[in-house]
Amino acid sequence: MGQRDIDVVVFGATSLTGRHVAAYLAQRASELGGLRWAAAVRDGAKAKRVFAAEGVEPPETILAEVGNPSSLRAMASRAIVVLNLVGPYMLYGESVIEACVDAGCHYVDLTGEIPFVRRMNAAFDARARAAGVKIVQVCGVAALPPDLGIALAAEAAAKAGEHLVEVDVESRIVEQPMPPRPSDFLSGGSLQSIVAVAGDPEIDCIVDPGCLVPDPATAQAVRVRSPIRVRPRHRDGAVIAPMAPAAFINPAVIHRAAALRAEEDGKPFTPFAYREGLAMGGSTASLPVRYVVAGALSGIQGLIGMLARAHRPDVGRRVSRFLTQALPGSGYEPARERLEPWRWQMSIRARTSTGREMRVEINADGHPFYCTTARMLAEAGLLLSEAGSTPDRSGCLTPSTALGTRSAGRFARAGLRFSLA
Ligand SMILES: NC(=O)c1ccc[n+]([C@@H]2O[C@H](COP(=O)([O-])OP(=O)(O)OC[C@H]3O[C@@H](n4cnc5c(N)ncnc54)[C@H](OP(=O)(O)O)[C@@H]3O)[C@@H](O)[C@H]2O)c1
Repeated sequence: MGQRDIDVVVFGATSLTGRHVAAYLAQRASELGGLRWAAAVRDGAKAKRVFAAEGVEPPETILAEVGNPSSLRAMASRAIVVLNLVGPYMLYGESVIEACVDAGCHYVDLTGEIPFVRRMNAAFDARARAAGVKIVQVCGVAALPPDLGIALAAEAAAKAGEHLVEVDVESRIVEQPMPPRPSDFLSGGSLQSIVAVAGDPEIDCIVDPGCLVPDPATAQAVRVRSPIRVRPRHRDGAVIAPMAPAAFINPAVIHRAAALRAEEDGKPFTPFAYREGLAMGGSTASLPVRYVVAGALSGIQGLIGMLARAHRPDVGRRVSRFLTQALPGSGYEPARERLEPWRWQMSIRARTSTGREMRVEINADGHPFYCTTARMLAEAGLLLSEAGSTPDRSGCLTPSTALGTRSAGRFARAGLRFSLA
């Protein structure tokens, strides 16, 4: 990759998330000096308007379009890393991955579309390993923070000759703009990506926590040990709702990461029981309201789970078509001034084989999906572009297996602080 003239390309830089990635890289370029980055877009005139409004000036803007493979090849052949923000990924992602593998360029995206990730693992893992390329999917708030946090705990346990047997992850919003507005949470781009999964012929794999684990016997052990559950729970005064935006993203990634770590260490893989949720704290008087909200979130995710288990892709396609029309698309997004005033936390409690409890605390600033995610994606891109900053492994990887536990400290610059206790 030595002859590349660009370190990091942001493809889909006009997207809500891409604009924040570009702004972060512009700021990091001024700190680092010598960073070579570029925006890649399908519409140069729109990009000029968008970047002017954002006050961002990419050093170069490349024209690339998903439907034009030669434009993707030209983009990928100049870059060390491509950050892909063009979703829904199951509709637009494969040709970008193909171009990156063919050009020998690392690839990172923000998909949460697990059936798509499974297909990409099957299609590109061997090719990417042969090319020395890292394909890093699900590299936003789903699933980088829990994946990297659990990797830190697993590494500390292994140093003491132990392994993890239980992992419990709780996210919590600490501060958000008030009063909340419906557009504060998910963009049209994200809603359309979630809806696209409902129409996927392999939607059943979203309820399968072992679907990204390469070895079938191990995948079965994961299913038995750690099924995905969406019922609300109660712990230490908090009501625990299913993870947002969906309970069907992190588990598969986290179990794949654990399986890849075991494979690399040459150890048999014993799956841990994994549980996650969104903790809603508050006064005793607010408990019924919190239970109603958690129950509603569980109900929606439970229905999605039932649809996935029903093996009726025809119904899924109809639901997906209807929701694609009914829900907003690209351009529907949180107001700009409402993106920064967020703070959120993730607590990872892990129990080891000797019964010891370990904790990893993650504190973060900014809107989880569009600010923290954009910055962590950009920082992941920078790490991958630097020789020697990430482990020497390739193939279809998870964020933690691609970036390594040493990278955790770097994410503080992106407003994501990890601490292991
Ligand atoms: N996992 C996470 O934590 C997380 C967080 C945030 C976002 N995401 C995902 O990231 C993706 C982006 O979300 P968003 O809301 O930022 O997107 P968005 O604002 O809807 O933007 C979509 C982008 O795709 C570009 N695009 C569409 N079709 C294209 C084509 N044929 N060729 C080239 N470019 C094309 C658009 O270009 P134009 O501007 O020219 O239309 C735009 O830049 C979504 O899939 C979302 O689910 C995930």
